[in-house]
Amino acid sequence: MKILVTGGLGFIGSHTVVELQNKGFEVLIVDNLYNSSIDVLKGIESISGIAPHYKNIDMRDKAAVQALFKEYSDIAGVIHFAASKAVGESVENPLLYYENNIAALVYLLQELQQKDAASFIFSSSCTVYGQAEKMPITEDAPVQQPMSPYGNTKKVGEEIIRDTAKASSINAILLRYFNPIGAHPTAAIGELPIGVPQNLVPFITQTAIGLRQELSVFGDDYPTTDGTAVRDYIHVVDLAKAHVIALERLLEKKNSDKVETFNLGTGTGSSVLEVIQSFERVSGQKLPYKIVPRREGDVTEAYANTHKANTVLGWKAESTLDEAIASAWKWEQKIRS
Ligand code: NAD
Ligand code: WQD
Repeated sequence: MKILVTGGLGFIGSHTVVELQNKGFEVLIVDNLYNSSIDVLKGIESISGIAPHYKNIDMRDKAAVQALFKEYSDIAGVIHFAASKAVGESVENPLLYYENNIAALVYLLQELQQKDAASFIFSSSCTVYGQAEKMPITEDAPVQQPMSPYGNTKKVGEEIIRDTAKASSINAILLRYFNPIGAHPTAAIGELPIGVPQNLVPFITQTAIGLRQELSVFGDDYPTTDGTAVRDYIHVVDLAKAHVIALERLLEKKNSDKVETFNLGTGTGSSVLEVIQSFERVSGQKLPYKIVPRREGDVTEAYANTHKANTVLGWKAESTLDEAIASAWKWEQKIRS
């Protein structure tokens, strides 16, 4: 059964392709290499032993998306990762984000709604909750006015999918990721941040390898146990596995909900200092860091209530924070060697 994975050479997409192949799905990747490398294809093949089909298509090119669905009329499901994801860049260049994350989504859904049955999985984010009032965050917590155009593309993207599913044969699952980290245990694929990483874990590993002088910890005056902000860091392989389970759920479709939403996190919050301690534990090396003022737009804490994902989806994150950080460190060492 052919599954289209847009953005399948990216961080989360590449790990998901491997898990899909492990379960016998035939994968077609579409990626324009905007934030990835063609070498990731080899990495995927080295793990699974299977070369996925690959097309270099820009999802903003409506004619190319139409042609893709003509050429591959047997696409049974779509996992849509392709998007731009840098929060700061989205504030500087909102239209880039609205075009890449919204226009491309519309073109994709336009093709999909012409099918008799279509399964669609969307990469959403815990960013839609903003600073939720109650921890851990359940799926029915209110969606807040987003702090950035990036966040808004996830909120609006979810709304577009709900409206389209209601009016068509599309069934969808919206997956709200918390903080994905780590790499495949083989270190054949991982995260490839371009330029200075904005996210905590790649900044830590790049500092430890000597690419950055020290980590800036953004704020130690939050109302948390140690004063630093708390997040739910989830191993990317656990996250990838959730996509396969969500896809199987859609393909088997046993309920009448057109759209379902699941939080994907571990359920445990970790502070920035706890992440640093985890890194020091698994690497056996001290990390240079300094405390600086809070970063604008950061929430105090965000961690998932995973009850719905655990019980309804039947998925649970398995890796510990130390395992996830160790895999990120192994990957960093491999790509710099
Ligand atoms: P990524 O940048 O590593 O992967 C995205 C992939 O999509 C890249 O390979 C890129 O080249 C490709 N792409 C982008 N625009 C494209 C276009 N117009 N046409 C074709 N390909 C295109 O990002 P990721 O971390 O793997 O994130 C995947 C998805 O998950 C994104 O939608 C992102 O918003 C969402 N998400 C990510 C995080 C996170 O922290 N990484 C958290 C929540 C949600
Ligand atoms: C984690 C914690 C920082 C870097 C972002 C997006 C969100 C989602 C996931 C896509 C925070 C602190 C970080 C550093 C630090 N992406 N930090 N020094 O901000 O939770 O979420 O990625 O949907 O939308 O906003 O992740 O990794 O940037 O930060 O102290 O150099 O680490 O303040 O508390 P965040 P992050």
